[in-house]
Amino acid sequence: MSDSRGQSDRDSGHGIRDSKVDALIAAARAVREHAHADYSGFKVGAALETADGTIVTGCNIENATYGLTVCAERVAMFKALSEGHREFRRIVVVAPPDAPTPPCGACRQVLWEFAGDLEVVLANLNGETGRHRMRELLPQPFDKRLLE
Ligand code: THU
Repeated sequence: MSDSRGQSDRDSGHGIRDSKVDALIAAARAVREHAHADYSGFKVGAALETADGTIVTGCNIENATYGLTVCAERVAMFKALSEGHREFRRIVVVAPPDAPTPPCGACRQVLWEFAGDLEVVLANLNGETGRHRMRELLPQPFDKRLLE
């Protein structure tokens, strides 16, 4: 499989790419400690890799009204956008369960809007639990092409 830059997941850069994933998992685990998860107790960390290799992190921020809670993925994306980043390679999401914890529907919509067919790496506190592409997680997106 090739990504939007024509780079194969299995090319000779695989080792380099995986060491970057390790760094992203470490960053997501670290930022998870800052989560405001008083209501659910479910702390999540995300680390977004931009096209130039910058890592932008985010954690979930809950609110007493519940509905104003923002997931780790969207915090990371909005931080990155507000810092001027516009191209993204992958996002790593770290959450506690043994089972892979994929992004919620709202986060899928936001990630698709700003990052298109992003690689999504899932991990728990012991390591990686899965890899996906956004086009697989959001197969029939509503997006700006439908507004033209
Ligand atoms: N949450 C995330 O931050 N990311 C996910 O991918 C799943 C859910 C947060 C939202 C809420 O603060 C808590 O986890 C429980 O749903």
